[in-house]
Amino acid sequence: MLLFLLLTLQTSAAVGQIDPGHCRFPLGLEDGRVKDEDISASSKWYQTTGPQFARLNREDGDGAWCPEGQLERSDSQYLQVDLKVLTFLTLVGTQGRYARGLGKEFARAYRLSYSRDGETWKPWKNRQGNAVIEGNKNTYAIVYKELHPSIIARYVRLIPVTEHSSTVCMRVELYGCPWHDGLISYSAPEGQLMMPPAYPPASLNDSIYDGTHERRPLFGGLGQLTDGVVGQDDFLLTHEKQVWSGYDYLGWRNDSLGTQGYVEMEFVFDRQRNFTSMKVHSNNLFTRGVKIFSSVSCWFKPRLIANWELEAVTFRTVLDDRNPSARYVTVPLYQRTAKALRCRFYFADVWMMFSEVSFQSGGNLPLSLLYFPAAAPSANDTTEGTNTPILIGCLVTIILLLVVIIFLILWCQCVCKVLEKAPRQILDEEVTIRLSSCSDTIIMQTPPVPPRAGHAPTGRGPRAACGGGYAEPDVTQCTPHQSFHSNAPHYAETDIIRLQGVTGSNMYAVPALTVDSLTRKDISAAEFPRQQLIFREKLGEGQFGEVHLCEAEGLPEFLGEGSPLPDRDGRPVLVAVKQLRADATLQARNDFLKEIKIMSRLDDPNIIRLLCVCVSSDPLCMVTEYMENGDLNMFLSQREIESTLTHANSIPSVSLSDLLHMAVQISSGMKYLASLNFVHRDLATRNCLVDRRLTIKIADFGMSRNLYSSDYYRIQGRAVLPIRWMAWESILLGKFTTASDVWAFGVTLWEIFTLCKEQPYSLLSDEQVIENTGEFFRNQGRQIFLYSPPLCPPSLFDLMMRCWSRNITDRPAFDGIHQSLRRHVRE
Ligand code: ADE
Repeated sequence: MLLFLLLTLQTSAAVGQIDPGHCRFPLGLEDGRVKDEDISASSKWYQTTGPQFARLNREDGDGAWCPEGQLERSDSQYLQVDLKVLTFLTLVGTQGRYARGLGKEFARAYRLSYSRDGETWKPWKNRQGNAVIEGNKNTYAIVYKELHPSIIARYVRLIPVTEHSSTVCMRVELYGCPWHDGLISYSAPEGQLMMPPAYPPASLNDSIYDGTHERRPLFGGLGQLTDGVVGQDDFLLTHEKQVWSGYDYLGWRNDSLGTQGYVEMEFVFDRQRNFTSMKVHSNNLFTRGVKIFSSVSCWFKPRLIANWELEAVTFRTVLDDRNPSARYVTVPLYQRTAKALRCRFYFADVWMMFSEVSFQSGGNLPLSLLYFPAAAPSANDTTEGTNTPILIGCLVTIILLLVVIIFLILWCQCVCKVLEKAPRQILDEEVTIRLSSCSDTIIMQTPPVPPRAGHAPTGRGPRAACGGGYAEPDVTQCTPHQSFHSNAPHYAETDIIRLQGVTGSNMYAVPALTVDSLTRKDISAAEFPRQQLIFREKLGEGQFGEVHLCEAEGLPEFLGEGSPLPDRDGRPVLVAVKQLRADATLQARNDFLKEIKIMSRLDDPNIIRLLCVCVSSDPLCMVTEYMENGDLNMFLSQREIESTLTHANSIPSVSLSDLLHMAVQISSGMKYLASLNFVHRDLATRNCLVDRRLTIKIADFGMSRNLYSSDYYRIQGRAVLPIRWMAWESILLGKFTTASDVWAFGVTLWEIFTLCKEQPYSLLSDEQVIENTGEFFRNQGRQIFLYSPPLCPPSLFDLMMRCWSRNITDRPAFDGIHQSLRRHVRE
């Protein structure tokens, strides 16, 4: 096994980028890895011919997807597949409706369109410009079609095409592999023509570029530089037949670009990445005036709407006048973090020609480790349902799936044991807590126990009652038998509203606002015309939706006097728009509306402000202020503490007084929430946003769960808990109160003073963190605390430690925390 891993690592290091010849793995329609909810369609004929039945080689329902009615020549009905991640697609397999011999329908031809973001759809065309792909000839045989050029997309639509009015039905599989580069577009000057007499004729343009030619000659798309086709040593020769000389290369002539002597390209990625290197496949036919670039300088941008960072990475190549081979030039990028890169490639000769550019960034697994080399079908195959390579692939898949299932079962058993350990230890102390860790509703629950004879209610109200109510039972004052024998409801019950943020399962206690059903009148935010929201950039994504940066046309006028929007001097108003996915569950939809309701009642300078909503039609949207500096975790982790060194080298920095000011603002926002009895439940730097003036606002857009998934503990693949920020009683008893928010505030302070360079308790596994919680409960001096960050004044660490007091009543209130932090700022 080790040998296998080593070998695959070596080959992947040698190959390094996608090889379309090997990137032909079934993407999961047939075997169900693509879920039903990720297959949709413009229409279906019956329930039993819905999009979920469009799976190749399967006979469920009535045997295929069939769009409604007779398909006409001008119709554009589609089947849509969401692959969930950016994918490099090389092959499509289609089949008709066989239905165990009863079906008659199939698609003789089809078109494809695709999208990387779900918003902008691009039609696929082959290298000759034809969009129509030949489909099936009968109901049962699979027809495979190679995609030349390949597609890089997350969403794919198959659009059956017909000459005459007819009924069509389809079953489909897509083939390819994940697009780990994450590159979603590049822009560059358009490539040029090489002309006789000085040179042989060659056209060095980007003929398959799928962006536009508007703002720059090439803008917003991908093309030949990412098609996986590596150019030959002689750029006049091509891999493709029936194309012109120079086809595989994008090339520029030095003197045609003014006197600048370089070609500037910009690369935009799906998310912020930590770049290790960039590989540029470059021609070096020096006998014809072509050489690799002499040097390259790259600048980085953490977000799309941000300035380029001043510090560039510059790399000089070793020019080679002896070997005319085309080659990959690897440019080290030193782990710089960015969402976009701008690179200037300097000419070393008259011509510069690239055929591929690829990026290596942190956390990308080499393909070979993710996919086993199951033989994938060839486009010339037309099978009658039996295909040896596919069978072998399926067998290997099944074996691997079995191994994964066995592993998961073992893992689950192990997790259950760990979770049961803490309460069992508590049992030793004659206290009963039951963990429901392996049930659907995660976490730990206090079982209802009938009152014991002779135990009258304490009469001290819910605060002092031993497990007598949800609100803060003071366990420390209970006798062991009483203490956790509680009728306290689980925190996901009764007066708790579940807010899912974008990704789901975020839970808050909001007693005052609990309602069973929510109507429009409960939402005090105004309905904004959604067509006036203009999409600019995706800010984040989660299971239930996405957050986008948008321009909001006419929003100041819409909000009228007293609008909280900053003055934009006539520039467009930017807002963050959180949008629920159209196919979100009913639960997610209700949670989204409840979150709107709560947010519409919050009004504080340190709480993110809901500006308006679009809830009269789908998709539901909430529009909030846009915070230019993103979340506090990202913001701080990219900075160093201010010093002469950071000044001299223009390294982004923050001062100690900036950090204190941030802490004051968060405590102020929390003081406000506490005054409303609002329990946040997920306070952490990832849930605080920073604007351009370093104002901090508390939010929870939930997508942090995607970006920061390691901060959450997932039990049985369902619920997620930010255990490293949670008070012991929240983990063991499911009790979330303002006092548990104070605990989380202490951890947030700790994050701030470590500049978010480390996860809390980074040396402990999730299971060990839960075990440590048991130690907090037992309070025998064996619990592990977070250490004092080097930057942190002792009095501030003392405040943190008080936030982590075992007894709820020993923890400071937000009022006091706020006052004491303000004193620190003044000192
Ligand atoms: N990400 C999520 N919400 C945001 C907001 N309001 N501003 C900036 N980035 C965000």
